[in-house]
Amino acid sequence: MDTQTRWLVVAAILLLGIHTVNGQQRARDMDHFITDLMAQMTIDEKIGQLNLVTAGEATTGAVVSTDVESKIKEGKIGGIFSMTSVPRIRAAQELAVNQSRLKIPIIFGLDVIHGYKTIFPIPLGLAASWDMDLIQETARIAAIEASADGLNWTFSPMVDISRDARWGRISEGSGEDTYLSSRIAEAMVHGYQGDDLAADNTLMACVKHFALYGAAEAGRDYNTTDMSLHRMYNEYLPPYKAAIDAGAGSVMTSFNDINGVPATANKWLMTEVLRQQWGFDGFVVTDYTAVNELIEHGLGDLQEVSARSLKAGVEMDMVGEGFLTTLRKSLDEGKVSEADIDRACRLVLEAKYKLGLFEDPFRYCDESRAKQLIQHPTHMAKAREAAAKSFVLLKNEQQLLPLKKQGTVALIGPLANTGSNMPGTWSVSADLENTPSLLEGMRAALGDRVNLVYHQGSNLVADAAYQERATMFGRTIPRDERPEAEVIAEALEVAKQADVVIAALGESSEMSGEASSRTDIGIPAVQQQLLSELLKTGKPVVLVLFTGRPLTLTWENEHVPAILNVWFGGTETGKAVADVLFGDVNPSGKLPATFPQHVGQLPLYYSHKNTGRPLADGQWFQKFRSNYLDVSNDPLYPFGYGLSYTTFTYGKLVLNTDTLERKGSLQVSVEVSNSGNYAGEEVVQLYIRDLVGSVTRPVKELKGFRKIQLAAGQSQRVVFDITEEDLKFYNADLEHVAEAGEFAVFVGTNSRDVQEARFFLKD
Ligand code: BGC
Repeated sequence: MDTQTRWLVVAAILLLGIHTVNGQQRARDMDHFITDLMAQMTIDEKIGQLNLVTAGEATTGAVVSTDVESKIKEGKIGGIFSMTSVPRIRAAQELAVNQSRLKIPIIFGLDVIHGYKTIFPIPLGLAASWDMDLIQETARIAAIEASADGLNWTFSPMVDISRDARWGRISEGSGEDTYLSSRIAEAMVHGYQGDDLAADNTLMACVKHFALYGAAEAGRDYNTTDMSLHRMYNEYLPPYKAAIDAGAGSVMTSFNDINGVPATANKWLMTEVLRQQWGFDGFVVTDYTAVNELIEHGLGDLQEVSARSLKAGVEMDMVGEGFLTTLRKSLDEGKVSEADIDRACRLVLEAKYKLGLFEDPFRYCDESRAKQLIQHPTHMAKAREAAAKSFVLLKNEQQLLPLKKQGTVALIGPLANTGSNMPGTWSVSADLENTPSLLEGMRAALGDRVNLVYHQGSNLVADAAYQERATMFGRTIPRDERPEAEVIAEALEVAKQADVVIAALGESSEMSGEASSRTDIGIPAVQQQLLSELLKTGKPVVLVLFTGRPLTLTWENEHVPAILNVWFGGTETGKAVADVLFGDVNPSGKLPATFPQHVGQLPLYYSHKNTGRPLADGQWFQKFRSNYLDVSNDPLYPFGYGLSYTTFTYGKLVLNTDTLERKGSLQVSVEVSNSGNYAGEEVVQLYIRDLVGSVTRPVKELKGFRKIQLAAGQSQRVVFDITEEDLKFYNADLEHVAEAGEFAVFVGTNSRDVQEARFFLKD
C-alpha cells in the first residue's frame, strides 16, 4: 500500500468511526426523547399513535375514515394518508401540534408509486429498463415532489414477485425475478430516503406487501398463498429483505393468507423473520383494513384479531380502527400487555423522530418548494427518458421501425387519445386532466413534420359493463355505441390516407392494478378485430401496445410486422413513443416477466425447476414428459427479451478458470459488439445453474447484468465476477449455503438465447 492509499484508508476508518459514534449518539438522543415522551402518555394516547386514517383524496379501499379532525385533537391519530398539498397538510398538522394534549406531530403518507405529479412508467415498465441509476433517480424525483407537497412517507416500493400475469398487481412490482427485483428494491429505497430521512426532500419508504402477495392462487387478487419455506426463502422473500437491508423505514403487511395464517396476524413472519432474522428496526403498518379482514379470514372478532395482529408484530392499523377501538379492552382483559402497546407506540414515534418531525412538524410544509419543484422541467425530461427506456421492442420485421419523420401517419385505437390512461395504474396523485394523450404527445414531439391523423377505431372492450369496470377513477375512454363494423369502417377510411398505421391498442390503465385480475389476458376481441382489419389494408402496421401485465400476443406476433410494448409510460408517454418510433431513441427495454403463448401456461417463469421428466432439447411434445398436448412449454417472449434497432453480436464466453475457490472469485467475460447501424444499449445478462444439489435447483437464475451503451461498430468486453455468495441458496434446513460441485454459467441477450460454460466450486 503506498502512503497516499494508507492515508486514505486511515481517513475512511476515522470517518466511519465518527459516523458510527454520531449514529450511536443520535440513537441515544432518540431513545431519551421518546422515553420521556412516553412517560407522559396515557394508554389511550399510545393507542392513538397506532391509528392510521385516510383523508380520502384517493380511493384505495372500500372504507373511508370519519371524524378525522376531532380524532386528531383527541390524540387518536398517528398518521394520515391520501391527503396532499401543503395548506391541507399544514392545517392537519396544526391541529395535532396545537390542539392535542401532547402535541405529537402526524406522519403523512401517500401511495407515491411511480412518481408524484411527474409520473414515470408503471413499476413493471421501469423494471424493463434494467437501469438501476434511472430507477433510483425516478424515486428521488418522486420524493422531491411529494415532500415539497407536504408528504413524508410513501407506500412504496412494492416488491412482490409475481409469475402469474392474471394477477392485476403484477403491474405494480418488478416482475418475476428475485435478483432483478432485489436490485430494484434497493435502488428505490435509496432514491426515496436519500442519505437523511430528516431532510425536507426525502420520504420514508414502506416495503410492501409483506409477504408473498404476488403468489395469490389463480392470480385472483387477495387470494390464498400456500408455499414451501424453501421457495419463500429462495425466491419470494429476498426482495423484501433487500429493501430492508437498504434501510427502508417501514413495512406493510399483505392481505393474503400464508400457509394458514394471514400475513397481518402472522407472528412468524412479522417477528421471527422480519425482526429476529433480518434485524428490521422500523415499524409495520397493515394494508387497508387488513386487521378487520382477519374476521372474514375466520380468525375471530375485531377484538380478537386486533390483539392477535398487535402481538404478531404489527404497529400501525390502516383505516380499520380495530386497534383504536379494542386494544384498551384487550389490555384490561389481559389479552395484550402494556409492553405490546409500548413497543408499537415507540416504533411509530421513532419513525416521526427520524423524519425530523419533533424538531419541526412543518418541515415538509413549504409552499414555495411545491411551486418550484413539482413537474420541474428536469423532472419532465427524466420522465420522457424513463418512458422511452421502459419500452420493449417485441418484434420488428424487415426493420419497419424506426419510421421516417415524413408523410401521413394514422394513429388508430382506443388508447390513442386518452390522456387519463397514460399515467397507468397506481398513480393516485397524477393530474389526469393535464396529461397529454398519445396523440397530443406525439403531435408535440413531431410538430408538422408528420401529418398525424387519428381515429378511435373501436371501444376498449365490447361489453359496456366490463369497460366501466376497466375505466375507473377518471381513467376514461369514450364509448361509441354504433355497431362495431361501422366504427371500424370509418377508422379504415382514415388508415387508407396514411403511409403507415400505428395501432394504439391493449389494456386501459385500470385493467391492471388492484382487484383487476383477468382470466383472458389477450388484447380484447373488439380491438383484435380492428387490428386484423387494419392489417388487411396492406399498409405497414405498427402495434403500440399498452399493458400492465404480460399479455398473450400469439396471433399478433404472427401477423403484425412491428410491436412496441409501451406499458403505461407516465406523463410523457406520447413524446417518448414518438422518440422511439421515429428513431431519436433506440429501444433498449427487456422484459422483466415472461410473456406466455397461452394463459393456460401460467404460472410461467424462466427460473423453473427441471422436473424428473423434462422435455428433450428442441422438442415440444413427448409422451410421458412434462408438457401440454396443445401448446409447447415455450414462452412467446422469454424473460429478459427485447429487441433493438441495432444488432449486438456476442463473442465467445470466456472463464478465467474453471475452479472457484471458496473465498476467491471467477471472471466470466464476453465481448459484445454493436454490429448494426445505430448506437444502442444492450442488457448483458448472466445466469447460473447449480447442476447438482442437496435440493432441486432452478434451471437458470439471474445473478448479474450490465447495461452497456455502444456506438455502431463499437465493442466492449463485459466482465462479471462470480463469488461463492452468488452460488448460495437456502437448503432444506434453511441454511444459506453454497454447495461444492459443478455449475453452469450462461451469458446472453435474454434468458433463452445464451452461451454456456461450466465451472466447479471447490469444497
Ligand atoms: C393497497 C396498498 C396501498 C393501500 C393504501 C391498499 O388497498 O393494497 O398497496 O398502499 O391501499 O392506499
